[in-house]
Amino acid sequence: MTSRAATRPPSRPVGTVTRGTTNPNRLRRMDRWIAAVHGAELRRAPDPVAVDLGYGAAPWTAVELLHRLRTAAPHARVVGVEIEPARVAAARPYAREGLDFRHGGFEIPVRGRPQLIRAANVLRQYDEAEVAAVWERLCARLAPADGHSRGGLLVEGTCDEIGRRHVWVALGPEGPRTVTFATRLGSLNRPSDLAERLPKALIHRNVPGEAVHAFLRDFDRAWAAAAPYASYGARQRWIRAVRDLAADWPVADGPGRWRQGEVTVAWEALAPRRPR
Ligand SMILES: C[S@@+](CC[C@H](N)C(=O)[O-])C[C@H]1O[C@@H](n2cnc3c(N)ncnc32)[C@H](O)[C@@H]1O
Repeated sequence: MTSRAATRPPSRPVGTVTRGTTNPNRLRRMDRWIAAVHGAELRRAPDPVAVDLGYGAAPWTAVELLHRLRTAAPHARVVGVEIEPARVAAARPYAREGLDFRHGGFEIPVRGRPQLIRAANVLRQYDEAEVAAVWERLCARLAPADGHSRGGLLVEGTCDEIGRRHVWVALGPEGPRTVTFATRLGSLNRPSDLAERLPKALIHRNVPGEAVHAFLRDFDRAWAAAAPYASYGARQRWIRAVRDLAADWPVADGPGRWRQGEVTVAWEALAPRRPR
């Protein structure tokens, strides 16, 4: 007798096919940050599975994520999940030990609960009103917290075509934790240059009265005040500006990350104030 499960048609992936734009090395800043802040959790996990959700028209970002995660967690595995079937077929020849590609969407078609879901430049093409439900769905798929672990991590954000400017939100099973701004310092005029790369949950909130707008305004002021440090290089200027900013904003990292042209801030401080 055939079981009902065997005869049930495959369910449709959750989500919408969008443009597949990607580039080699585009997500290096995000990859390195994940390896630094989540490497220990990945190392401790018995089966450290990471999902590169919406890897796009070519599998580069998934290949690179595996490489960078393995510097921190040698047993990490990456599953690239893409909603456009032709992009899955194009990626499959690149599958190898530790790297697999699957057709699917926000339901996350992997067995068990992954330690990491990375969604870069995916939600940007959805409506702002859809973000909260997608976050909730993805967070519910993460490895749960227990006495030894904070659980899995969802990293969702946006960058420019070649990854010079990048902003992402990190979420745990309990919800949003932090927002990270990361940039190539040599190409930065002022911190608010990063506004055009804010993730979908924040990009429409860069207006007076919203927290992210006040944050970028204060960051620009701190950057201007730190101008004398520019003679020691953009890195020293950034570090000085972030140090000043930390007097008024809950900066969650330290000089070791600031040196990379990064700063991470608690989500609650930047979260949208007015419901839409
Ligand atoms: C702009 S590309 C980003 C590629 C890569 N992540 C990057 O940052 O370079 C967005 C990709 O996400 C895919 N996508 C959109 N919604 C998705 C979903 N719900 N599940 C899986 N993939 C999705 C699109 O089909 C598209 O290929």
